Amino acid sequence: MGRLRVAVVGAGAAGLCAARHILSRPREFDLPVVYELTDHVGGTWFYEERVGTYDNGLPVQSSMYRNLRTNLPKEVMMFPDFPFDSHLPSFLSHQDVQQYLERYCKSHAITPHIKFNTVVEEVKPISMETEEGGAVTWEVISRGTYGGHSTQTFDSVFICSGHYSVPHLPSIPGMEHFKGKVMHSHSYRCPEPFAHQSVVVLGAGASGVDISFELAQAKAKVTLSHNKPAVQFSLPPQIQQAAPVVKVFEDGSLLFQDGSVAQAQVLLLCTGYSYHFPFLCPKQLGLEVEHHLVAPLYKYLLPPAFPSLFFLGICKVICPFPHFHCQVQFALAVLEGTVQLPSREVMEEEAERERTRKTQMGVQAKHCLKMDSEQWVYYQDLATTAGFSPPQPVIQSLYEEVRRQRQAKPQAYKQINYRLVDATQWQLLEAPSVPIDKV
Ligand SMILES: Cc1cc2nc3c(=O)[nH]c(=O)nc-3n(C[C@H](O)[C@H](O)[C@H](O)COP(=O)(O)OP(=O)(O)OC[C@H]3O[C@@H](n4cnc5c(N)ncnc54)[C@H](O)[C@@H]3O)c2cc1C
Ligand SMILES: NC(=O)c1ccc[n+]([C@@H]2O[C@H](COP(=O)([O-])OP(=O)(O)OC[C@H]3O[C@@H](n4cnc5c(N)ncnc54)[C@H](OP(=O)(O)O)[C@@H]3O)[C@@H](O)[C@H]2O)c1
Repeated sequence: MGRLRVAVVGAGAAGLCAARHILSRPREFDLPVVYELTDHVGGTWFYEERVGTYDNGLPVQSSMYRNLRTNLPKEVMMFPDFPFDSHLPSFLSHQDVQQYLERYCKSHAITPHIKFNTVVEEVKPISMETEEGGAVTWEVISRGTYGGHSTQTFDSVFICSGHYSVPHLPSIPGMEHFKGKVMHSHSYRCPEPFAHQSVVVLGAGASGVDISFELAQAKAKVTLSHNKPAVQFSLPPQIQQAAPVVKVFEDGSLLFQDGSVAQAQVLLLCTGYSYHFPFLCPKQLGLEVEHHLVAPLYKYLLPPAFPSLFFLGICKVICPFPHFHCQVQFALAVLEGTVQLPSREVMEEEAERERTRKTQMGVQAKHCLKMDSEQWVYYQDLATTAGFSPPQPVIQSLYEEVRRQRQAKPQAYKQINYRLVDATQWQLLEAPSVPIDKV
């Protein structure tokens, strides 16, 4: 058998990780082809001042905002084999992460294999008859953003196109009556334009909470409207909590689920993002893709009907870079044949069993792809099956400590610095200059 040809869609963190590991196995794999629709690597970490579309009409990909700091410390966030610079604090700016990804790309000589300004328009399986029986190759049809089409065939495709670019816009009856500005966090960049304005922030995920704090500091009057139990941490006086917005009246006022009504100048939807793969035909792949769901995926990674197609980082509430690192190594072991997959039927049954298990635990369908504390068993399973080292226990321990700090002090926890001592222990490096419960 010749060397395997692999296409990678996207040069964000996931795509770079895929390319780095393919390049490290030259005996088994041909040089990868990485398609990237922008002119840079980094994906969502490449901060774009502009919102909406690029000059070429394509939508801006990045959802990054100017003052964002990471919500994972660098010790947890890093690719396990590639530390961040030691002089950086634990919680990083987006510039720090972008530079890290550029360094990762350079250190592993990935750039020559990236086709920049190239949009993947179609990825489709082509059935082939071989001496061993049926096989699948993949046709990747791409378009240069400055013109020109190309079709190339591959043995495998890694989908690394991200899933935090296409806003999920809830349907709220009467929305057309709202008199102020409606926008999604995807297009939020900085708080200054909202100073002294009344802003209803809908959704209390990471974006909703973090942006509410930013707006409050910029002297906006914020209503954090959400469907979760009231937050337990103390909020600054500029932030009030409210039930979710359920309707907009004809006069433009907002109705909340508890019957209260309010006016606002801005409705900022921090309502998350939708999975979106415009270059795939899910039905042909035996997949169901909805705004919150991609299924069935065996080990949250591959469609049982097409086990040479890999979706990296579909899960949410994970440590993305370590997650990619584990998934890529498992996927390459599958392609190399060192991991033998079960039959399509068995993989489908396992994916279905996993879905049923979550439903029986009371997990809502829209949250079935959230992993959180289940991610460690998942990494261990991939690592044991494919024969690589899983993230060290200290990563789980520090992740859980940071989650506790985030829940207790969502504004202050990013000032703390940590140090990894060994495979099982971390250490608090220095106390923040202001006591963290006073911030
Ligand atoms: C606001 C925000 C804050 C976050 N904060 C953190 C954090 O603190 N810590 C953390 O670990 N993670 C964080 N994340 C998660 C973040 O998404 C991951 O860290 C990681 O960047 C995901 O990488 P990715 O490669 O999967 O996707 P992306 O970074 O989205 O990269 C996808 C790439 O694919 C390209 N692409 C898409 N479609 C095509 C196509 N058709 N053809 C060619 N190229 C295509 C895009 O241009 C892009 O470069 C945050 C996410 C957001 C949105
Ligand atoms: N580094 C940072 O500080 C930082 C900052 C921002 C974002 N991020 C990352 O970016 C990613 C996306 O985060 P996100 O917060 O944008 O999306 P998210 O995690 O999907 O959160 C969206 C929230 O909106 C809620 N929601 C959706 N529709 C609603 C409605 N109609 N009414 C009320 N609430 C509604 C959702 O509730 P349901 O789930 O119940 O529908 C959910 O809580 C995550 O990985 C996150 O960690 C990181």
